[in-house]
Order: sequence, then C-alpha cells, then structure tokens
Amino acid sequence: MIQRPRRLRKNSIIREMVAETRLSKDMFIYPYFVVDGKNVIHPIDAMPGINHYSVDELVKDVEKGLKLGINKILLFGVGEQKTEDASSSYSNNSVVVKAIVALKEKFGDQLYIITDICVCAYTTHGHCGILHGDYVHNDSSVEVLSKMALAHAQAGADMVAPSDMMDGRIEGMRTLLDANGYENTAIMSYSIKYASAYYGPFREAADSAPQKGDRKSYQMDYRNGNESMTEGILDEAEGADILMVKPALAYMDVIFNLRQNTLLPIACYNVSGEYSMVKAAAAKGWIDEQKIVMENMHAFVRAGATIIITYHTKDIFEKGWL
Ligand code: PBG
Ligand code: ZN
Repeated sequence: MIQRPRRLRKNSIIREMVAETRLSKDMFIYPYFVVDGKNVIHPIDAMPGINHYSVDELVKDVEKGLKLGINKILLFGVGEQKTEDASSSYSNNSVVVKAIVALKEKFGDQLYIITDICVCAYTTHGHCGILHGDYVHNDSSVEVLSKMALAHAQAGADMVAPSDMMDGRIEGMRTLLDANGYENTAIMSYSIKYASAYYGPFREAADSAPQKGDRKSYQMDYRNGNESMTEGILDEAEGADILMVKPALAYMDVIFNLRQNTLLPIACYNVSGEYSMVKAAAAKGWIDEQKIVMENMHAFVRAGATIIITYHTKDIFEKGWL
C-alpha cells in the first residue's frame, strides 16, 4: 500500500495542527548601534533599514518598538575614543552606559537590555582584545572585558553578551560581577563564534575592522564542527546562562549539534551579512522578502535555537509578519 504523508498537508487547518515549529514574538532580540551626539539618526549604507542612533533618538525608537512588542534589545557602542588599551570600553561615561541609564530611567523593567561586550570598536588596532606584539593576549583581554561588563551592569544592563572569543572570559566576568553584587546580571555568551566574512557590513556599522591581520587566532575556523561543542561546553561550565551560535544560516548544523549537547537555552545571531544579502536581493525584486525572512526564522527554531538576534526584527513586528 502506498504511504501518503500528503494527507497531513491537505489544507491549512491540518498543516497548522501538525506544524512542528512555532515562532513566537518572545524569541526576538533587536540590535541597536548607539553613537554620541543629539538628534542623530544616521543610516548604515551596507545595512538598509538600520541606523546609528544618538541616545535621545534611541529612546524614541525603542519606545515605538516597545508598542509593537520589541522588548529585548542588544546595544553596541560606536565612535568612542580608540586607544591601545581599550580604556573607553569600561568607562562609566561611555555612550552605551548613557544609553542604558536613559532607557532604564524611561522604561524600567518593561525593557530588557543586553549589551555586547567586546573591545574591537574601542581599540586603535580593531582587535577584540589587548595586543602583546601582534598577538591578542588572552588573560589581559579577559580583565578588560570583565571591567566592561561590570560597567554595563552598574549602569543597569540586565544581561551582558561577550563576543570576543577569549578563553575563560565567562568565568572571569561572572566572578567580577558576583564580587560586586551583580550576581543577577545574566550572561549570554557568543560561545560559538566563527571567523566569518558574514560580519562585513557590521564592521562598517561599528567601525570595528581589524587594522592589521584577521580574527582567526581567536574566532573559530569554519571547517570545524566538533571543536564548536568544546566551546559551548566550556562556557556552560564557566557559568554562561545562554549559549549563542554565530553566524546562523551557514551554521545550522552547529545549532542542531549544540541542542543535543547542552540543557541551556540556545540563541543564534542572524548576522549583518545574512541580513544585507536578503535586503539586497529583495530590493532587486529577486526574492519575496517576507517569505524568505520567515522561512529563515523558522529554520533557526527547527535547528534548535529558541532565541533569535536579528536585524529583521523591526520588519517582522512592524509589518505583522508574525
Ligand atoms: C564584535 C562583534 C561583531 C559582531 C558582533 N559583535 C563583529 C566581529 O566579530 O567582527 C558581528 C555582528 C554582525 O555581523 O551582525 N566582536
Ligand atoms: Zn570584537
């Protein structure tokens, strides 16, 4: 007798009933790039629809987003003084600190604030840590990153998200946060972050490209899948609350594999290059943007992520795609 899986696809009612993957608005985190100044809304060329915002404009935009249900944001600071030792990254007067304070003052616990922890936008050389010669020195980088996390926690960040890929930074950060009374500040680790050409547009947005060399001595080699589990398991043991895979689309196998190897929530970062490729093709009329975006979002969840960081969030919420 012929097997007929098509029975369960007969009409939309039965398809809805048997759908294995459900997307929820609660899964989305929207990234923002914050700059100094006033009245600044500056479009980022390589990322259509995404802007640099000064704090005053950020507050207004977040308010609009909150009305639609965008209540989790990820903040990146741009345009700070760049130094060899990244000291502006942990200043209590940084633009990210000012943004956290202004947002918390206005929205309190209605808004969940996550901050990116990395120094590449704060160093003259554009690397994600402190250089000793040409090498990004691990342990001194962890010290600086931990101080940056503490400064954000003190300003009121709910969660910090280290994206540097130094060894031991979760433990370093957790220890410093706890010692200062911030035991409830959560850590979402960019656990499995590959050295990827998909970050191209972001580096324009954050002005964070390395001046010399690349990030391959700290970010992962895209040929490696097994090694990624080591990164995830270590971060879990060091005290991460959420593990992230980045980029997302070309790394679905890694999301799936991580799902089998941890009990923690898994986030994926649908990065700038993935976003801009969709935007560019849609602008050409070559693809249906809504359909492509929603297909991608479901694929992340099917692979095993329940948290999605994506620049598409605003379109999804504003245009009622979900
Ligand atoms: C900084 C950082 C990067 C991204 C997030 N945090 C860039 C990089 O590591 O080069 C990428 C985000 C994106 O492409 O959307 N370490
Ligand atoms: Zn970095």
